[in-house]
Amino acid sequence: MQIKEILALTPEEQNIEVKGWVRTKRGQSALSFVSINDGSTINNIQAVMDGEKIPEELMKKVSCGACVAVKGKLVASAGSGQNVEVLAEELVIYGEADESFPIQPKKHSLEFLREKAHLRFRTSTFSAVFRVRHALSYAVHQFYHERGFFNLHTPIITASDAEGAGEMFRVSTFEPNKAPLTEEGEVDFKEDFFGRETSLTVSGQLEGELGAMALSKIYTFGPTFRAENSNTTRHLAEFWMIEPEVAFYDLKDNMNLAEEFIKYVINEAIKNCQEDLAFLDTRFQNENKAKPQLERSEHTLLEKLDFVLENDFARITYTEAIDILLNSKPHKKKKFKFPVEWGIDLQSEHERYLVEKHFKKPVILTDYPKDIKAFYMKQNDDGKTVAAMDVLFPGIGEMIGGSQREESLTKLKTRMAEMDIDEENLWWYLDTRKFGTAPHSGFGLGFERLVQFVTGMGNIRDVIPFPRTPGNVEF
Ligand code: 4AD
Ligand code: MG
Repeated sequence: MQIKEILALTPEEQNIEVKGWVRTKRGQSALSFVSINDGSTINNIQAVMDGEKIPEELMKKVSCGACVAVKGKLVASAGSGQNVEVLAEELVIYGEADESFPIQPKKHSLEFLREKAHLRFRTSTFSAVFRVRHALSYAVHQFYHERGFFNLHTPIITASDAEGAGEMFRVSTFEPNKAPLTEEGEVDFKEDFFGRETSLTVSGQLEGELGAMALSKIYTFGPTFRAENSNTTRHLAEFWMIEPEVAFYDLKDNMNLAEEFIKYVINEAIKNCQEDLAFLDTRFQNENKAKPQLERSEHTLLEKLDFVLENDFARITYTEAIDILLNSKPHKKKKFKFPVEWGIDLQSEHERYLVEKHFKKPVILTDYPKDIKAFYMKQNDDGKTVAAMDVLFPGIGEMIGGSQREESLTKLKTRMAEMDIDEENLWWYLDTRKFGTAPHSGFGLGFERLVQFVTGMGNIRDVIPFPRTPGNVEF
């Protein structure tokens, strides 16, 4: 039985067995109190070990980090903080842990724990984060399944650059420096495993669109790779993205889906992770207190989550956003580091102003200039903008990027030519526009950014088990 189930039992001196890792031990060998956790819940169970029943030799091996099995009787607990405890009758030590075990019962910094990523699951904070991550992941599938979407597994190895940003990791079986060369002296990828240049995918969207042009509603949920050299609290080189793609949806349907989706999964997390979120909220508030006044959140974590559920997201066009920024105090006082004018790619300081200062809630920005967006986005009649949408969140920035897709073969080809994108490579993508094309839309949600928002963790490296960032691939 898991500790979570045991803690919910009515104590009747029944025989039970607890298996888990020791968090703390108090008392002496005559009588000690050992708290044990198995990861099923944030709560530990206390085992009371009486020196008359448990041999001293064995008791000595019970230390922080050790793995134990305790058989005994479940009784009502006299101590505060728990309803039940185990009176130990038998103790088995599966694995000892000496005092070099790094996760001792004291406060560790998140930076320290990142260097111990193989053991950090054993802290209350990280076990809570990863239980919430699981709940969110499960809710994602539930949300789409309930609405008639099909989960499509798109490839991880690809020969095309979906976003056209060129930030891809190469996949090759060539030995460095021993790659065969062409007569011109260039690497001959014809000789490589796939017979051409290949990379890890930056998005499953293009293949997702192929699925949507038959199954109508699909979503992907897979690992995504970007070789951008950005050392920020919101970027990973390997992250997980959820990409729904829907036939017959226009941009408005797409925005509605995105808003409903985010609210649904946050609500599921609140419903299913009450204790973990209460714990993470306390952590969030303590961390908040230590911040300079200006950066402090006015709300608790749970208030922030409720606020998202209860309010409609603001919806404005890029052009309206630029007007708001041009009329803002920081612009007039020249406080923005990057100048504001129509056509710029919004910087995080601009997004933060809109979301945190102006609207004080999530914002969906639409209709961006075509020159700062990908080739596949639907071209608006003004000839300047495309039917793009980004969902911006307080403290996170961009949570979702998406668009209505250009369904006209001619317009798509013209745009590709303008952007220097090779048609030959994407002949299969263009075929969807040639045969039974349809209006359609979709978006991508960065799963770790969602987990960050829900858990209140400030750094994206603390919401994925083993973060990959520049120079960081130890575990
Ligand atoms: O805005 P992006 O680049 O959009 C796409 O890839 C589209 N193909 C999606 C689609 O329309 N199907 O990325 C989508 C989201 C971002 O909004 C962000 O949340 C996340 O993916 N993201 C990252 N998350 C962590 N680390 C990174 N390096 C990320 N890059 C993007
Ligand atoms: Mg984007």
